[in-house]
Amino acid sequence: MNFNFKINGGDFSGAGRASSDIKKVLKKLNVHPKIIKRIVVALYEAEVNVVAHAKKGSINAEIDSEKIRITVVDEGPGIPDIKKAMTEGFSTASSKVREMGFGAGMGLPNMKKNADVLNIKSNVGSGTMVELITFFKS
Ligand SMILES: Nc1ncnc2c1ncn2[C@@H]1O[C@H](COP(=O)(O)OP(=O)(O)OP(=O)(O)O)[C@@H](O)[C@H]1O
Ligand SMILES: [Mg+2]
Repeated sequence: MNFNFKINGGDFSGAGRASSDIKKVLKKLNVHPKIIKRIVVALYEAEVNVVAHAKKGSINAEIDSEKIRITVVDEGPGIPDIKKAMTEGFSTASSKVREMGFGAGMGLPNMKKNADVLNIKSNVGSGTMVELITFFKS
């Protein structure tokens, strides 16, 4: 199964659409609730990062019998130092983003904790690609 979503930078009310749709699909497939929670948390953080930090992006989710593979590709400023960005508490969020309740610098660490595989590729000045893979049985 394959699902696609679009995300627009700054659209905080739209963040969470993909994760809630994917949650419904995984429930129907009888994936374990604990695994669903891990997937939804990681995907939600990825969605919010596009909204908070990029211009626009798209999400692709591929589901097969053993795993979900999610790619989130955006057009935006990119991440100059991925290792630093992965540090708990590191954030470049604007004051506007902080007013919305985001910018604790916990999104990427949370994605790392919740996904089985997290890959980030980024080009400064052009955009970021995040790959999240989670297996249904551990
Ligand atoms: N898609 C992205 N495009 C550009 N920069 C990003 C992207 N995702 C993350 N970053 C950079 O990495 C930093 C850390 O991201 P992380 O998600 O951990 O924290 P945050 O988004 O700042 O705050 P929080 O997720 O806790 O609300 C961001 O502040 C930003 O500098
Ligand atoms: Mg974040």
